[in-house]
Amino acid sequence: MSVLRIGVLTSSDTRAAGGAADTSGRTLMELSGSRGWEVAAYHLLPDDPERIAAALIEMADTDRCDIVFTTGGTGIGPRDVLPETTLSVCEREVPGIGEVIRGESLKITDRAMLSRGTAGQRGSTLIINLPGSEKAVRESFGFVADVLEHAAEMMAGGGHG
Ligand code: MTE
Repeated sequence: MSVLRIGVLTSSDTRAAGGAADTSGRTLMELSGSRGWEVAAYHLLPDDPERIAAALIEMADTDRCDIVFTTGGTGIGPRDVLPETTLSVCEREVPGIGEVIRGESLKITDRAMLSRGTAGQRGSTLIINLPGSEKAVRESFGFVADVLEHAAEMMAGGGHG
Protein backbone atom coordinates (compact mmCIF):
# COMPACT_ATOMS: atom_id res chain seq x y z
CA MET A 1 0.00 0.00 0.00
CA SER A 2 1.26 3.48 -0.75
CA VAL A 3 0.31 6.56 1.24
CA LEU A 4 -1.32 8.85 -1.28
CA ARG A 5 -1.18 12.60 -0.91
CA ILE A 6 -4.74 13.87 -1.25
CA GLY A 7 -6.13 17.31 -2.06
CA VAL A 8 -9.76 18.25 -1.49
CA LEU A 9 -11.55 21.17 -3.10
CA THR A 10 -15.16 22.06 -2.39
CA SER A 11 -16.85 24.32 -4.91
CA SER A 12 -19.92 25.92 -3.37
CA ASP A 13 -21.06 29.54 -3.22
CA THR A 14 -23.23 28.79 -0.18
CA ARG A 15 -20.68 26.90 1.86
CA ALA A 16 -17.83 29.28 0.99
CA ALA A 17 -19.99 32.16 2.25
CA GLY A 18 -20.51 30.33 5.54
CA GLY A 19 -24.15 29.52 4.78
CA ALA A 20 -23.69 25.81 5.41
CA ALA A 21 -21.03 23.48 6.78
CA ASP A 22 -18.80 21.79 4.23
CA THR A 23 -19.88 18.26 5.12
CA SER A 24 -18.88 16.91 1.70
CA GLY A 25 -15.32 18.21 1.93
CA ARG A 26 -15.04 16.88 5.48
CA THR A 27 -16.38 13.51 4.36
CA LEU A 28 -13.77 13.29 1.61
CA MET A 29 -11.02 14.00 4.14
CA GLU A 30 -12.41 11.36 6.51
CA LEU A 31 -12.76 8.75 3.76
CA SER A 32 -9.21 9.44 2.57
CA GLY A 33 -7.88 9.19 6.11
CA SER A 34 -9.66 5.89 6.63
CA ARG A 35 -7.65 4.49 3.71
CA GLY A 36 -4.42 5.60 5.37
CA TRP A 37 -3.91 8.44 2.91
CA GLU A 38 -2.58 11.85 3.88
CA VAL A 39 -4.72 14.93 3.27
CA ALA A 40 -2.17 17.51 2.15
CA ALA A 41 -4.44 20.37 1.05
CA TYR A 42 -8.02 21.59 1.39
CA HIS A 43 -9.80 24.49 -0.29
CA LEU A 44 -13.36 25.73 0.19
CA LEU A 45 -14.15 28.13 -2.66
CA PRO A 46 -17.11 29.78 -4.35
CA ASP A 47 -18.02 28.59 -7.86
CA ASP A 48 -15.39 30.85 -9.42
CA PRO A 49 -13.43 29.23 -12.26
CA GLU A 50 -10.32 31.40 -11.85
CA ARG A 51 -9.95 30.71 -8.14
CA ILE A 52 -10.72 27.03 -8.63
CA ALA A 53 -8.13 26.71 -11.42
CA ALA A 54 -5.49 28.42 -9.25
CA ALA A 55 -6.19 26.06 -6.34
CA LEU A 56 -6.06 22.98 -8.58
CA ILE A 57 -2.70 24.08 -9.99
CA GLU A 58 -1.33 24.72 -6.50
CA MET A 59 -2.42 21.30 -5.25
CA ALA A 60 -0.84 19.61 -8.26
CA ASP A 61 2.38 21.59 -8.73
CA THR A 62 3.22 22.88 -5.24
CA ASP A 63 1.53 20.48 -2.83
CA ARG A 64 2.39 17.51 -5.07
CA CYS A 65 -0.93 15.77 -4.45
CA ASP A 66 -1.34 12.38 -6.10
CA ILE A 67 -5.11 12.68 -6.15
CA VAL A 68 -7.28 15.79 -5.94
CA PHE A 69 -10.98 15.28 -5.25
CA THR A 70 -13.32 18.10 -6.10
CA THR A 71 -16.89 18.15 -4.83
CA GLY A 72 -19.71 20.21 -6.29
CA GLY A 73 -20.16 22.17 -9.48
CA THR A 74 -20.59 19.17 -11.79
CA GLY A 75 -24.25 19.74 -12.60
CA ILE A 76 -26.07 21.86 -15.16
CA GLY A 77 -26.71 24.98 -13.11
CA PRO A 78 -25.36 28.29 -14.42
CA ARG A 79 -22.49 28.35 -11.88
CA ASP A 80 -21.47 24.68 -12.27
CA VAL A 81 -17.97 24.95 -13.74
CA LEU A 82 -15.91 22.08 -12.38
CA PRO A 83 -15.55 19.83 -15.44
CA GLU A 84 -14.40 22.57 -17.78
CA THR A 85 -12.20 24.20 -15.15
CA THR A 86 -10.59 20.85 -14.39
CA LEU A 87 -9.87 20.15 -18.05
CA SER A 88 -8.48 23.67 -18.51
CA VAL A 89 -5.61 22.86 -16.12
CA CYS A 90 -5.03 19.26 -17.26
CA GLU A 91 -2.88 17.85 -20.04
CA ARG A 92 -5.32 15.04 -20.68
CA GLU A 93 -8.70 13.76 -19.70
CA VAL A 94 -9.17 10.41 -17.97
CA PRO A 95 -12.77 9.82 -19.07
CA GLY A 96 -13.27 6.34 -17.60
CA ILE A 97 -13.47 7.69 -14.07
CA GLY A 98 -16.47 9.91 -14.78
CA GLU A 99 -18.04 7.13 -16.82
CA VAL A 100 -17.80 4.68 -13.92
CA ILE A 101 -19.07 7.17 -11.36
CA ARG A 102 -22.07 8.01 -13.55
CA GLY A 103 -22.73 4.40 -14.50
CA GLU A 104 -22.67 3.09 -10.94
CA SER A 105 -24.52 6.12 -9.60
CA LEU A 106 -27.33 5.61 -12.12
CA LYS A 107 -28.11 2.35 -10.34
CA ILE A 108 -28.85 4.47 -7.26
CA THR A 109 -30.48 7.61 -8.71
CA ASP A 110 -31.63 8.79 -12.16
CA ARG A 111 -30.28 12.20 -11.26
CA ALA A 112 -26.75 10.88 -11.73
CA MET A 113 -27.20 11.67 -15.43
CA LEU A 114 -27.19 15.34 -14.49
CA SER A 115 -23.59 15.22 -13.28
CA ARG A 116 -21.00 16.12 -15.93
CA GLY A 117 -18.08 15.21 -13.66
CA THR A 118 -14.88 14.00 -15.28
CA ALA A 119 -11.24 13.46 -14.33
CA GLY A 120 -7.98 14.73 -15.73
CA GLN A 121 -4.26 14.40 -15.34
CA ARG A 122 -1.92 17.30 -14.63
CA GLY A 123 1.62 15.98 -14.40
CA SER A 124 1.52 13.21 -11.83
CA THR A 125 -1.71 14.45 -10.26
CA LEU A 126 -5.13 12.99 -11.01
CA ILE A 127 -8.01 15.42 -10.48
CA ILE A 128 -11.39 13.74 -9.95
CA ASN A 129 -14.73 15.57 -9.99
CA LEU A 130 -17.42 14.34 -7.61
CA PRO A 131 -20.93 15.76 -7.20
CA GLY A 132 -21.71 18.08 -4.34
CA SER A 133 -23.90 16.24 -1.84
CA GLU A 134 -22.39 14.25 1.02
CA LYS A 135 -24.38 11.22 -0.13
CA ALA A 136 -23.03 11.47 -3.67
CA VAL A 137 -19.49 11.92 -2.34
CA ARG A 138 -19.69 8.78 -0.20
CA GLU A 139 -21.10 6.73 -3.04
CA SER A 140 -18.73 8.04 -5.71
CA PHE A 141 -15.62 7.69 -3.56
CA GLY A 142 -16.50 4.04 -3.07
CA PHE A 143 -16.65 3.43 -6.83
CA VAL A 144 -13.14 4.72 -7.55
CA ALA A 145 -11.03 4.44 -4.40
CA ASP A 146 -9.66 0.96 -5.04
CA VAL A 147 -7.86 1.96 -8.26
CA LEU A 148 -6.21 5.14 -7.03
CA GLU A 149 -2.99 3.68 -5.61
CA HIS A 150 -2.39 1.95 -8.94
CA ALA A 151 -3.23 5.19 -10.75
CA ALA A 152 -0.57 7.03 -8.74
CA GLU A 153 2.02 4.36 -9.56
CA MET A 154 1.19 4.62 -13.25
CA MET A 155 1.47 8.42 -13.26
CA ALA A 156 4.87 8.09 -11.57
CA GLY A 157 6.00 5.88 -14.46
CA GLY A 158 5.56 2.52 -12.76
CA GLY A 159 4.63 -0.62 -14.68
CA HIS A 160 1.54 -2.74 -14.32
CA GLY A 161 1.57 -4.93 -11.25
N1 MTE B 1 -24.44 10.60 -7.79
C1 MTE B 1 -24.61 9.80 -6.73
N2 MTE B 1 -23.86 8.71 -6.61
N3 MTE B 1 -25.51 10.07 -5.76
C2 MTE B 1 -26.31 11.19 -5.82
O1 MTE B 1 -27.11 11.40 -4.90
N4 MTE B 1 -26.87 13.24 -7.08
C3 MTE B 1 -27.02 13.78 -8.44
C4 MTE B 1 -25.80 13.66 -9.32
N5 MTE B 1 -24.97 12.54 -8.98
C5 MTE B 1 -26.14 12.08 -6.94
C6 MTE B 1 -25.17 11.73 -7.91
C7 MTE B 1 -27.58 15.12 -8.51
S1 MTE B 1 -29.05 15.36 -7.68
C8 MTE B 1 -27.02 16.14 -9.27
S2 MTE B 1 -27.86 17.59 -9.55
C9 MTE B 1 -25.73 15.94 -9.93
O2 MTE B 1 -25.04 14.84 -9.35
C10 MTE B 1 -24.81 17.18 -9.94
O3 MTE B 1 -24.46 17.57 -8.62
P1 MTE B 1 -23.52 18.82 -8.34
O4 MTE B 1 -24.01 19.96 -9.19
O5 MTE B 1 -23.66 19.09 -6.88
O6 MTE B 1 -22.12 18.49 -8.70
